[in-house]
This record gives sequence, C-alpha cells and structure tokens, in this order.
Amino acid sequence: MEERLIETKAVIEDIDETSLRPRKLDEYIGQRKVKENMSVFIEAAKRRREPLDHVLLYGPPGLGKTTLAGIIAAELGVSIRVTSGPAIERPGDLAAILTNLGNYDVLFIDEIHRLNRTVEEILYPAMEDFALDIIIGKGPSARSIRLDLPKFTLVGATTRAGLLTSPLRDRFGVINRLEMYDNEELTLIVKRSAAILGIEIDDRGAGEIARRSRGTPRIANRLLKRVRDFAQVKGDGVIDAETASMALNALEVDDIGLDSTDRNMLISIIEKFAGGPVGLETLAACISEEPDTIEDVYEPYLLQLGFIKKTPRGRMTTKLAYDHLGISMKCGRYEQQEIDID
Ligand SMILES: Nc1ncnc2c1ncn2[C@@H]1O[C@H](COP(=O)(O)OP(=O)(O)O)[C@@H](O)[C@H]1O
Ligand SMILES: [Mg+2]
Repeated sequence: MEERLIETKAVIEDIDETSLRPRKLDEYIGQRKVKENMSVFIEAAKRRREPLDHVLLYGPPGLGKTTLAGIIAAELGVSIRVTSGPAIERPGDLAAILTNLGNYDVLFIDEIHRLNRTVEEILYPAMEDFALDIIIGKGPSARSIRLDLPKFTLVGATTRAGLLTSPLRDRFGVINRLEMYDNEELTLIVKRSAAILGIEIDDRGAGEIARRSRGTPRIANRLLKRVRDFAQVKGDGVIDAETASMALNALEVDDIGLDSTDRNMLISIIEKFAGGPVGLETLAACISEEPDTIEDVYEPYLLQLGFIKKTPRGRMTTKLAYDHLGISMKCGRYEQQEIDID
C-alpha cells in the first residue's frame, strides 16, 4: 500500500517523534478526564507506596497511548520497559521480562490484543498475584511451583478494547478510552511542536493545520513538518493561514483532513453499493484494504464526522458525506459533480 500522509500509524518520518512527546502529565494536552483520573490514581499509589493498578489505554492510533504510558512511569518516578504483543513470541520471553522488572516499574505492552494465548496465560497470575507459575519436570513427576515477581504495573495499549479477551480485560483496574482531540487542543499541540522544532507559525496557521489533522496529534505533527517545507521553499519560512492552506491543498489533504483514500472509500460505498449498507469484508475487498485497517485507521474519523454510520447490516454513507463530496442524493441514485478540494 502506498504511504498516506495522514496515515495514523507511526511511519519512518516520525522517528524523531520522541522529541515532541510530552513527558509530564501537565504537558499532555487534552484528554482532560483521563488526565484528572490518572493524576489521582498515581498520587494515591505513591502515598500508599503500592504499585499503580494495571492500566488499559485504548483508542485509534496516534492519539497518545504510548506517550501516556511514558508519562505514567515518569509521574510514578519508576522505570518503564516497553514491548509489544507481537514481539513476545513465547511464554519464556514474557517470563524473562517480568522477572527482570524492578518493584513498582511499568511494563508497557503495545498492541496487547496481539499477544498469543499461551503468553497471555502467563500474564493472568502475574497481574493478579505478582506470581509466575512454572512447571518443573515432565510426565507424572511434573509439578508446578510459584515464583514471586516484583510488584509492577502493566500498561496495555490497544486500538479497540473489544479486541481483548475478557479474562485479560477484567484484570485491568483502570480502563481509559482516549478521544479524538478538538481543534483548540490540536492548535495547542501544533504550536507546542512548532516551538520545539523552532518553526515560526501564527495562530491561524496552527488552526489551519489543526482543522485538517483528523483529531489526531500524530497527524498534526506530521502535517506541521510538511507545511514547514512549503513555507521555506515557497514563502518566507513563516507559517500563516495562507501558507498552511496552500501547502495542505498541494498535499491533497482537503478542508477537513480527508485524503484521496478516504474519498475513494466513501465514493465506493456510494457508487458500488448505492450508499450501503455494505459489509466490512466486502468493502475491504472492494477498495483493496484490510478490514482491520478500515476499522482502526479510516473509520474512526469518518464516524466522528458523521459521514458514515455502522448498522447491523454494514456501513452506510450519510447525507453529510454526499454533501462534502458534492454528490447529490436523488431517489437513492446520485449525480456526481466536480469534486473541489479547495
Ligand atoms: N496529549 C498530547 N499532547 C501533545 N502531544 C501529543 C499528545 N498525544 C500525542 N501527542 C503527540 O502525538 C504523537 C503520537 O502519539 P503516540 O503516543 O505515539 O500515539 P499512539 O501510541 O496512541 O499511537 C506523539 O509523538 C506526541 O508528539
Ligand atoms: Mg503507540
């Protein structure tokens, strides 16, 4: 698949992402409810000298799950060990990680829904009793012994909480859903990143980038860097509303942050399925995408905009989508007009 500018998953270009990552809770913009709760739980755990309860973070890619995991460890004043579901192949790999943690440390498992079953089973007693059950010997003489583990906090991240098995989900004391950011929050994020990167930008320039960032900080930061290139080559290096708008139009990111792939998906539903409902698998095959990619990457923003809705029989486009694309709904048929991305 060709790389999308508005791809929400981290790509190579984001390798310097760490420099833009807030390190403390009060630098973390937005997500007010989650921040308020986490600061209470962190403070309480510190006062009681207990490990923080295990925390599950879920929400679409690029909303700040990895960042928040780092902040939780920093606020607790402990070390963080970072790994991911697919990286832990065998139970022994996880056992080695767990036994090497320090007391109260944070273990961050990204994409935790992708742990395999045998590995996941090691996690249950580890999360519940800080214990590791190991089998010694074989056949009739085999016996199980229990090893104590350090008291740690598991922070798990996933794009959708529903992807977790229920025994795993039930073992998290704190479950936080990250929401898409509003324009005001994204404007602050763009301005903060610009200051760190030494980019000159005015309020309206930042607002323009924010508006087209699909509610996602990772995209806001990426668009900021691309717009900077335009400002330097075609302008005087300063990002104002005009430069931002010119650059984003050139990058084919429309007024509200849709790119050609989104438009393509919407138009497919409209043209090939008369506006839907169309099942996820069918739609995926039709636009040559993975169903998971549609659910994790494309859909969250289109649902948020109200451009599509999910029904028991599949996805449907709404009047808002027709209006945005300049396609008119006529007795269930459509007439396509010229689509203008300006
Ligand atoms: N609340 C926030 N405030 C400021 N910047 C943020 C915030 N959340 C995310 N970011 C920025 O977005 C980028 C992507 O966040 P990340 O934590 O990697 O997302 P996720 O793990 O959910 O995919 C980070 O590098 C960070 O710069
Ligand atoms: Mg992440």
